[in-house]
Amino acid sequence: MSIQNILQKREFDKADIIALLHAKTAEDKLTLQQVAHETLLRERGNKVFYRGLIEFSNMCACDCYYCGIRKSNSLVQRFLLSKDEIVETALWCAENDYGSIVLQSGERRDRAFIDFLCDVVKTIQRESISEKLPHGLGITLSVGEQSLADYQKLFDAGAHRYLLRIETTSPTLFASLHPPSQTLENRKACLQNLKKIGYRVGTGVMIGLPGQTIEDLANDIVFFRDEGIDMIGMGPYIVHKDTPLNIHRESIALQKKQIFELALKMIAVTRLVLPNINIAATTALQAIHPIGREKGLEHGANVVMPLCTPASVRKQYLLYDNKPCLEDKASECRDCLKARIHRIGHSVGTNQWGDARPFFSSPNS
Ligand code: 5AD
Repeated sequence: MSIQNILQKREFDKADIIALLHAKTAEDKLTLQQVAHETLLRERGNKVFYRGLIEFSNMCACDCYYCGIRKSNSLVQRFLLSKDEIVETALWCAENDYGSIVLQSGERRDRAFIDFLCDVVKTIQRESISEKLPHGLGITLSVGEQSLADYQKLFDAGAHRYLLRIETTSPTLFASLHPPSQTLENRKACLQNLKKIGYRVGTGVMIGLPGQTIEDLANDIVFFRDEGIDMIGMGPYIVHKDTPLNIHRESIALQKKQIFELALKMIAVTRLVLPNINIAATTALQAIHPIGREKGLEHGANVVMPLCTPASVRKQYLLYDNKPCLEDKASECRDCLKARIHRIGHSVGTNQWGDARPFFSSPNS
């Protein structure tokens, strides 16, 4: 079946997904983009929701082979922002109408860390309540694999969303990216636990990983659908020079354009398969293309995560090389993103949590 015919459908099976991801001609790629964008506008409107991203610590107990802040990278200067710094940054987001934040860090499972984070979440939740945010800021956590009990504690403290990328659903590929102590099974169990507790759950994958096939990516989209995921954050894999996967640097560099296109096709096809969910136009897209995030929005994404991490530590949170916005202050990211979003005819959804399904039965969902 031709791409044009598949795009007439409302439901897509794995063979359709594979065919769409293979779209090659300029005409097929353009139609895929247009249909995905129309689906977004029909299902969710043109509002882009912000999640102010606060990267509050780069301390990490994991050793993922692709990640710049992996435990074994001794070149990284480690940091943990103070409670006051994190709360102040979060309240800046609230004052600037962001409505929702993401607290992200490397993975730590020690008691002191979980207690610290619970305290931070509670304080942000309480202090961000205002007339424009009657429930306070929406708080998303992205702090990796934790126990069910700790996920519950963090939920009870006031976090309501959690981002945990599956990275890839291919068992062999997952094993080639992580040490044996990290397993795909545990990652899946964590996602199940998060859902059981009541979090809105986000996941996602990296695109263009060494050895990854189109079929792997199609399986990833089927996984998003079967797991009832609420949000997707996906982006291109980008080499970090001080990681084991740096050995693939040259072949990845040669495929940069294809990987970027594939990342956009993944966004478009995910929008078609899951018309209603939130999909992020990630910063990694902009790391390999100057208007990467806008392209993401035009392919069906509806969330952006403006970088709000204090300027003093931005350069210490490098998951990959060429991360953009390192010299910018949070206010510059605010103004720059707004202009970028308006330029492509979308608007910003201010003071909203922007959930795909309302978390509270109130107007401020
Ligand atoms: N390139 C692209 N994305 C990366 N991440 C980590 N390292 C890289 C990299 N080198 C992504 C992972 C992780 C998220 C926080 O950042 O998908 O889940």
